[in-house]
Amino acid sequence: MPDIITVATQPIAGQKPGTSGLRKKVKVFQQPNFAENFIQSVFDVVERDEGATLVIGGDGRFHNRTVIQQAIRMAAANGYARVLVGQGGILSTPAASNVIRKYGASGGLVLSASHNPGGPDEDFGIKYNIANGGPAPEGVTGAIYERTLTIDRWLSVDAPDIDLDAIGTVSVAGMSVEVIDSVADYADLMETLFDFDAIRKAVASGLTMRFDAMSAVTGPYAREILEGRLGFPAGTVVNGTPLEDFGGHHPDPNLIHARELYELMMGSDAPDIGAASDGDGDRNLIIGRGRFITPSDSLAMLAANIECAPAYKGRLAGIARSMPTSAAADRVAEALGVGCFETPTGWKFFGNLLDAGKVTICGEESAGTGSDHVREKDGLWAVLLWLNILAVRGISVDELARMHWARFGRNYYARHDYEGIENAGADALMDGLKAALATLPGQSFGALTVAVADSFSYTDPVDGSVSENQGIRILFEGGSRVVFRLSGTGTQGATLRVYLENYVGTDGDLDAETGAMLADQIAAAEAIAGITRNTGRTAPDVIT
Ligand code: G6P
Ligand code: ZN
Repeated sequence: MPDIITVATQPIAGQKPGTSGLRKKVKVFQQPNFAENFIQSVFDVVERDEGATLVIGGDGRFHNRTVIQQAIRMAAANGYARVLVGQGGILSTPAASNVIRKYGASGGLVLSASHNPGGPDEDFGIKYNIANGGPAPEGVTGAIYERTLTIDRWLSVDAPDIDLDAIGTVSVAGMSVEVIDSVADYADLMETLFDFDAIRKAVASGLTMRFDAMSAVTGPYAREILEGRLGFPAGTVVNGTPLEDFGGHHPDPNLIHARELYELMMGSDAPDIGAASDGDGDRNLIIGRGRFITPSDSLAMLAANIECAPAYKGRLAGIARSMPTSAAADRVAEALGVGCFETPTGWKFFGNLLDAGKVTICGEESAGTGSDHVREKDGLWAVLLWLNILAVRGISVDELARMHWARFGRNYYARHDYEGIENAGADALMDGLKAALATLPGQSFGALTVAVADSFSYTDPVDGSVSENQGIRILFEGGSRVVFRLSGTGTQGATLRVYLENYVGTDGDLDAETGAMLADQIAAAEAIAGITRNTGRTAPDVIT
């Protein structure tokens, strides 16, 4: 047994994990005991056997190395036998999920604030993933939070920082710490899933791409896989070196923050496909030459064509999407005769469905797509599946999209975000909606009449757990809808998300402007929720 140092502490307010772990400003995490309290609370409540292995990795943002060194000492004091940590402290979120599963770890600490900016004045985050490689379910995050309310000590050992850059094994107070190659296991996994030969042939015959790693974690992964193993020319991956502040940008692969990529893809020099990923590598953006693919459509199109990828041939069990994600995937599930599930926002809700073999592919409107190969969404996986499909079918992104809509119809879709609004206004808006739910059905707003209005509640079909208050749904006659939700990942004020959707059948206009197709829903959203009255805003900050 190592000599354990017991450090007295007291509860610190504000340690309730959100949609995706605990996210705060770096300055908050730098307060004495802040990170330690949370990590100790994790170690105090999570299940593990003696001799357990813990995985630690992050997206490389500012403060990553500091927290990793402290977490290693604390793991040693808390009885872990082994820690696996990515070289340089780096593991993309899907790569961390893979390492947890592959090496039979009891769980992992994923240090990231995802797509939020990084640097001394920006964001940091800690998330705990369980043994299946996925984010801890609400029962576990709830217990962690309860523990933060009573904690009075954290445990550590007297040991110096380890060299995070040197691959190899060292001992920290008797616990084995292995610094592992961050990329190799993940790249090997991808080779088992996709038809790399077909992609290599397509590249040799002229398939071109640009991958924007946004100075975040996927740079080394994308270089190894796209340029190293698939033969795309050097320079295909841009912004490929992870930076602690992501070069001062938001590492969020959407049309606002990946503007340069979007402009390239809409111009005359566009390659065949453009893609980007976020801070920790779990999100993806797909743009074909002249054609942006919404994340909701991407899920539907990937599911419809998943048979092109060797590892998924003949084994699509079902499709899951989060509630605010468009229903495009539902039409594919119906046509293929497979199960279809609608979960609350947050990847953790897919874990049980994947473990139970009820679904094979999942996706969210927030640029997340993934499958049962890990228990996180996976940015590069989605890009590789797109490449696999394009290579096997020999068509362009635009052709694939048109053929898809011609078969299934098109779910026009957009999300309007109002960021950093005052909590009071955001709460008033949501409370007002809840109070109006009973009286909305039958009321008309412009051309639209409300058919159903409810607050989304989810009963997990595997463990029966119930999650209430997961967003307000207004469903209109004719099948269009508006959804209102407050973000669970912001770190400042509140963010209101308004999700707009309008379905057009195969005989309708399948190539119209999204904004025009959603004009009625946008007007109805304002009339129903009083966005301007409650938030003081006349237009959204971000439209995705
Ligand atoms: C994270 C989660 C996703 C979720 C997204 C949006 O990325 O991993 O599963 O969809 O946040 O969350 P928010 O609460 O900000 O809408
Ligand atoms: Zn992310």
